[in-house]
Amino acid sequence: MTAERYVFPHKHLLGIEPLDARDITAILDQAQAFEAVCERADIKIVPALRKKLVVNLFFENSTRTRNSFEIAEKRLSAEIVNFDADTSSLAKGETLIDTALNLEAMHPDLIVMRHSAPGAHALLARHMKASIVNAGDGAHEHPTQALLDAYTLRQRFGRLEGLRVAVVGDIRHSRVVRSNLWLLTKMGARVTLVGPPTLLPDEIRATWPEVAISNALDPVLPEQDAVMILRIQFERGTGAYIPGQGEYIRHYQLNAGRLARCKPEVAVMHPGPINRGVEITSEVADGPNSLILRQVTNGVPVRMAVLYLLCHPHGEQVP
Ligand code: NCD
Repeated sequence: MTAERYVFPHKHLLGIEPLDARDITAILDQAQAFEAVCERADIKIVPALRKKLVVNLFFENSTRTRNSFEIAEKRLSAEIVNFDADTSSLAKGETLIDTALNLEAMHPDLIVMRHSAPGAHALLARHMKASIVNAGDGAHEHPTQALLDAYTLRQRFGRLEGLRVAVVGDIRHSRVVRSNLWLLTKMGARVTLVGPPTLLPDEIRATWPEVAISNALDPVLPEQDAVMILRIQFERGTGAYIPGQGEYIRHYQLNAGRLARCKPEVAVMHPGPINRGVEITSEVADGPNSLILRQVTNGVPVRMAVLYLLCHPHGEQVP
């Protein structure tokens, strides 16, 4: 008897929550095939998305994610339109739905969007024929960041199951942590969230009761395989939740002293942008345990895999 062929069952990537372990593994495996393309010495391009039109719609600031998506699209030979939210009709008061319907009239195949409103992507998905990819929606989800984090962990440790991962910092405002919580728990990793009580909202405990929570960083460090550091999101008002930067640094900054408490092979990760000298010191961010730039590199093949699987759910044309 032959095993039934796996077909990627999702039209959109709205978050990690709707995916199961098999979908996540399919994306990571496909990303591995695309990593080989990205590491080629000469032509780092495949025709997998030739003649497909991708619109990048960024309503919130982004450097890494936006560039990473654009490079991924170019490596797949897609046609690209970058929609500049500032100069668009949105500035004149057009609603998101109107913008979406006008875009739809031009028949794009994929829309990659970052928006400050949680759920904006789900709304768009209900009104459009194109596949929608969530590049960050408020404090809700940032699925491709969690996928590239998982890819980086799997590359380093060969597995996700049983890995001990601590996520430290501004849990309250982080969409990265929410996508990572869905992903890591679905894949059997053991997560500990660390931060001051004011940055660890009850909603997190209620949604992921299996996750450990600690207000102290030092005691949890020795048992971790990976430590993910999050930025303090001052622009989202985190300053009001912590007594002060100095106090935060004293308790939660990952510095050389704290790294010495970790396993020698511990992986240090950060989704960026880094506030050097606040949540992490330069010495640690640039040191031998850091996978931070590896995460950035891996973002491209992971996003290629997502775009590709949404357009080719049967996995045809695998390079
Ligand atoms: C994160 C984001 O924008 O959600 N960055 C990223 O995409 N790499 C995290 C952050 O802004 O701190």
